[in-house]
Amino acid sequence: MSSPIVLGIESSCDETGAGLVRDGRLLAHAVASSMDEHARYGGVVPEIASRSHLHSLRPVVRRALDEAGLRLADVGAVAVTTGPGLSGALQVGLAGAKGIAYALGVPLYGVHHLAGHVAADTLEHGPLPDPCMVLIVSGGHTSLLLVRDLARDPIVHLGDTLDDAAGECFDKVARVFGLPYPGGPAIDRVARDGDARAVALPRPLPRSHDFSFSGLKTAAARWAEGHAGRALPVADGAASLQEAVADVLTRKAVAACAEHGVGTLVVVGGVAANSRVRSLAEERCRAAGIELRVPPLKLCTDNGAMIAAVGDLLVRAGAEPAPLDVSIDPSAPL
Ligand code: KG4
Ligand code: ZN
Repeated sequence: MSSPIVLGIESSCDETGAGLVRDGRLLAHAVASSMDEHARYGGVVPEIASRSHLHSLRPVVRRALDEAGLRLADVGAVAVTTGPGLSGALQVGLAGAKGIAYALGVPLYGVHHLAGHVAADTLEHGPLPDPCMVLIVSGGHTSLLLVRDLARDPIVHLGDTLDDAAGECFDKVARVFGLPYPGGPAIDRVARDGDARAVALPRPLPRSHDFSFSGLKTAAARWAEGHAGRALPVADGAASLQEAVADVLTRKAVAACAEHGVGTLVVVGGVAANSRVRSLAEERCRAAGIELRVPPLKLCTDNGAMIAAVGDLLVRAGAEPAPLDVSIDPSAPL
């Protein structure tokens, strides 16, 4: 008998996601984003995000079910992000998930958002090898994780950013460059016409497996400010920034693989969409004999399918479901 269909719900930041997974297979997923509503504030406004989740949750679940040709009654388990994330935003998703689980009489699983990002890749490339190294690079995180069996073993947090996340660095510098929010994709776009060697930017390499991007962000901002009154060669600045971020991320990730004797690197999170991060990761992994896995873009950014993927692993591992009074944990440690 096949395992139950797992509905995954994600609402930790500005994306409301619902995904349906069974036996490691993605059946359908849908995402609604409130990104446009935050754009004029230059960053995510928590209150707006929470209200948007309230509006979007039901339609997003409905869209995922319709796309899979399923009814709500076909769902056999519900998985939901309990943290880390914005507390109001998490509350909306958890309340919705509890309601559905209670009404259907099916088990509820609380999922760590980062475990979701890790599991996203399994929906495209199958089970993760044990062990593997995961680099999560998004607007909120820059983490290096040593992952064994996702459903059974704790994830080992090897390193993190000491200050800004890589995506945050892109977003903040893009603003100084006069590019639209979110800055990451805009930097990637304009960098195509730039020279990555044009601006000498630092390569912050803290010891251990940690990262630091605030010095790089400041250096790029200073360079831009130094052009007061003159035209800013934005393409060169963007290409140089992108090169510095990609260099640091891939150098550290490949070194971590070598140090821990790990043969597979998985890169996930919004910044994994960056063209230079991807190409440099490919180049360096090939040179080091490391298999590189990067999920497709739609699974790299926040979504419900990745949460359903963890739920599906937990169900199949016979994990204990969460009690119906489970709470959110906005700063959940791994
Ligand atoms: O994973 P994600 O959708 O949300 C979380 O932060 O959890 O990641 C969003 C981040 C933003 O900082 C955005 O600027 C960045 O990913 N991003 C990119 C690209 N696409 C998205 N950064 C660089 N290049 C891109 N192509
Ligand atoms: Zn995320």
